[in-house]
Formats: sequence, structure tokens, C-alpha cells
Amino acid sequence: MLGQGKTEWAWETLNRVEQKMEKVSARSAHKIPYTTLDGVHDDRSDDANIAWWTNGFWGGMMWQLYALTGKMQYRQIAEENEQKLDRVLMNYNGLDHDNGFRWLPTAVADYRLTKNPQSKNRGLLAAGNLAGRYNSAGKFIRAWNDWEENTDDHRGWAIIDCMMNLPLLYWAYEETGDPRFRQIAVNHANTAAANFIRPDGSVNHIVEFDFEKGGMIKSYGGQGCGVGSSWTRGQAWGLYGFTLSYLHTGETLYLESARKIADYFVANIPESGLIPVDFCQPQEVTWEDSTAAAIAACGLIELAGAEEKIEKDRENQAEENNYRKHGQESVYRNAALRLLETLALMRVNWNDQEDELLTRCTAAYHDAEHEYSIIYGDYYFLEALMKLTGKELFIW
Ligand code: GLY
Repeated sequence: MLGQGKTEWAWETLNRVEQKMEKVSARSAHKIPYTTLDGVHDDRSDDANIAWWTNGFWGGMMWQLYALTGKMQYRQIAEENEQKLDRVLMNYNGLDHDNGFRWLPTAVADYRLTKNPQSKNRGLLAAGNLAGRYNSAGKFIRAWNDWEENTDDHRGWAIIDCMMNLPLLYWAYEETGDPRFRQIAVNHANTAAANFIRPDGSVNHIVEFDFEKGGMIKSYGGQGCGVGSSWTRGQAWGLYGFTLSYLHTGETLYLESARKIADYFVANIPESGLIPVDFCQPQEVTWEDSTAAAIAACGLIELAGAEEKIEKDRENQAEENNYRKHGQESVYRNAALRLLETLALMRVNWNDQEDELLTRCTAAYHDAEHEYSIIYGDYYFLEALMKLTGKELFIW
């Protein structure tokens, strides 16, 4: 449970975000932004960029804000974002394991709120394509397609981020009753639990499997600083993703996996409360990734809630035996609050004439550019505040 003072903080911060986003969304109504240039959203809805993996988060922000306020402005923008993504559903090469990131916050969110049958159709098409990426020998979902500009063979590649795409399959199972969707999600989650999580609770970003016979071949550093390092957004995807698989299935393996990653993450939060791009980056490198902080906060809040539910069920059982346990503050929720309060104080741009919320986000350690705004940072910061105030539209 959140104490009174923290609840007030969460509401105040959420209201500030909504006041800013009302202006920002009016300015960016016909865009699908990824980042900002001099405080102005770019637009990834042109033909060259419409398949970009982050193109569901803007719609997701709009659905969250619509769920919060009922303002039609947000709903119309979300619907436009969803419709624009239909061009991707007709483009085989544009589809990949990130179908979850694109269609859960858009079509599936719409369907959850409005029961729009076209949105359900979109979500199921995206889920069917995601299920079709399953490699049955290796029991994993293939991450990326092969890119013309790159000679890597991606047929055996899976990445930790995919844990966040599995909820599209859980949703499709819940909607259709077809167990194939759940079976594929669970098999991938089991493979990830066995092959991505290291003994200390950190996770690999990329694992390559033998795509004919199965079995792990090796790991790659991916978007982190090197092989065996701890790319922080990858840790956050793993922490939140395993928590979600636990919420959808009740499997203890996923709860234990989420706890292991969470314990590692919490133990490595620097004194400043600001998250680096990689927990293993050299001390002299100061690059941050605010998206990792926001995503981890969402996962930690959900994990705290899952643990409290288990504890409550135990207490109810114990009460029947005349035994009462006192409530304890959750280490995970406290860590989430610390991350969010630090972001709100130091890494949110509150100027409503500029379009971004979070500053100092980084896509990848070895990229030429670091520390700019990224739309999924804004999305997860909003989602975390919605969770803390009990107002969240559950998207995953
Ligand atoms: N899913 C890719 C990333 O987190 O950058």
C-alpha cells in the first residue's frame, strides 16, 4: 500500500503531467513521435518509419490520459495512431517480435476500453504474426528480421525485451481460448528464465540459440556496453516482463525470476537514484537512461502488488488459524518511488512549451548519441503514476 503522503505526491505529479500533455498532445495530434528536436516532437508516421517498434507508445499515452480524464482529444489522437499502424499489418518485413509494443498500447487498449471489433481484429492479427515467429526446436520467439544493412543472421536470436511482448499472446489466448497463444508465451518465458538470467540476477540482452536443434549458443552485449554487462533497460524489461508473465499465469518460476532481477536492479541503483545506461559501464562514463528508471519503476510496483496479494491471501488463511501478521512496507515499491521522485525532480522537463517529459534517455550504449528524449520513457513514467494512483488502464 502507498502511504498518504506518497499518494498525494503521485496525484500532484500525475496532474502536472496531464496538464502538460493536454498542450503537448494538441500540438502533436497528427504525429507519432519518437523523440524531440529542440523541444519539438518528431513524427515517425511517414512510410519509411511507420514500422518503427516504438510507434505504439504515443497512442498508449493517449489511451492512459483518456482513461484518466475522459477527454475526447486524447481518444481521437489514440485512434488516429492505431489506424496509421494498419499500414504495418500489411508489411511482412515491418512486423517482428515487437508487435506487442505496437498493438497492445493501441488496438488492444482501444478494445479493452471500447470493445471496438476492428481493434480486436488488429490485435489478433498482430498476435498471430507474433506466434508465427516461434521456433519450436529452440522454444523461443525470434526477435528481429534480417536487415539489408547488416550481415548478422538473426534466425536464432531472442532478446530479453520480448518478455514485454508476451502479453499480446496472453491477451489473444484470453480472447480466443486458443491455447496455442498461451503455450508459445509460456515456452518462450521458460526458455528466457533458463537462458537469460545470470546467477547474480542480471540478464543478458541477446541470446543466440541453435535454430535447428535448440540450445543456447552464446550471448551478446546488444545495447549494453559488452558481453556479460548489464544494460539497464534490458534489466527493466526482464523485471517487468517476468512479473507480467506471473500475473498472467500464476507460475511461481516467473515470480522468482522477477524477484531475482528486481533484487539485482534495486541493489545497483546508484546513490543519486539516476540510472546509467549499463550498470557495468566504466565509472568515467556518465551516460544515463531515464527510460530504464521508468520501466523498472512500473515493474517494481507490479511486483510489490503481486507480493502483497500473496501475503494477504496467506494472512486470510492465517486469520482462520487465529494468527495475524503485521503489514510490511515493500522494498520494491519504495525503490520504485525513489526512482520516480528522482525523475520528477531532476529529469522531467516541466516546461509545457516543450514536448518531452523525460530527459536523458539513451537507446544504446554504443550509439553515437546519448541522453535525449524517447517516447517510451514518457509512456512508462505516466504508466507508473497511473499505477500509484490506482487509475491505470492495464495495457500489458
Ligand atoms: N526493445 C528495444 C529497446 O529497448 O531499445
